[in-house]
Amino acid sequence: MAEKIIILGSEGQVGTDLAATLRGVYGKNNVVCSDIKPGTEEKYDLGPYEELNVLDRDAIDQVFKKYKPTTVYHLAAMLSATAEKFPRKGWDLNMEGMFSVFDVCGDHGVKRVFWPSSIAVFGPNTPRLNTPQFCVMDPNTIYGISKLAGERFCEYYFEKYGLDVRSIRYPGLIGWKAKPGGGTTDYAVDIFHQALIQNQYTCFLKEDTALPMMYMDDAIKATINVTEADSNLIKVRSSYNLSGMSFDPKTLSEEIARQRPGFLIDCDIDGRQQIAESWPQSIDDSSARNDWGWSPDFNLETMVAEMLKQLSTMGVGSN
Ligand code: SER
Repeated sequence: MAEKIIILGSEGQVGTDLAATLRGVYGKNNVVCSDIKPGTEEKYDLGPYEELNVLDRDAIDQVFKKYKPTTVYHLAAMLSATAEKFPRKGWDLNMEGMFSVFDVCGDHGVKRVFWPSSIAVFGPNTPRLNTPQFCVMDPNTIYGISKLAGERFCEYYFEKYGLDVRSIRYPGLIGWKAKPGGGTTDYAVDIFHQALIQNQYTCFLKEDTALPMMYMDDAIKATINVTEADSNLIKVRSSYNLSGMSFDPKTLSEEIARQRPGFLIDCDIDGRQQIAESWPQSIDDSSARNDWGWSPDFNLETMVAEMLKQLSTMGVGSN
């Protein structure tokens, strides 16, 4: 049977890049994009697009009836900082959205489902350096709690209902096609825009706050590889640790300044500092490497070079 893919939350930071990559591989008509945002002529030109709220189970069912997906990527969620502002809404979107999508996937015999988890599943009592795949997990944000609960349901749906869900714990993701919204790691994208606009950045985290990060191309590669891997290679049915690079704002700004002389950073911290301090600094991803052959292509230097190049080409900072 030919692949038919549906991406839920296709207008977000990951969805934008994932849709472009998958459409390149499978052809635009075999990859259906959907998001709560309305369709536009521009979106319809890129391929099939459906306006869809993941809390509306009947609407998901209708879209699945129409397209008969074989693979579903469910990316619609509320990130850490926004969910702290709207805890109940964050919980409902992240959990109820997941149940609706998983249940409708089961009803329609979808072959494979991807659901993203995050480094936010870890908490203050988790070992912060080289965080193991299995360890103490005591998240203290609504986002982290919803992701940890979601991971348990990934395993549960697989074990009890045979739904083949795959998942990875994204670190902070850095890409140029779309900006993140409402996350704690967002500074690592913003800093590049401000570097090109004014060669200066005021960071909302302290300069020595190290976090795990990843260039978007690596994240998309991991997302597709874990989703398309043979089912018997997927040994972790909750969610895989995944590592690309780790750095703090100071180290990132030094690399930007090396490639863009004169760049300066200062800090004006807010509530996101507390969230960042409860998360790991680096991640042990040996299970992903051993089970399905994960390895990243980008390091700090190549990521910075690529971000500056791509954003300049887009015209950021040129007016
Ligand atoms: N990047 C996300 C956030 O900061 C973590 O998964 O919320």
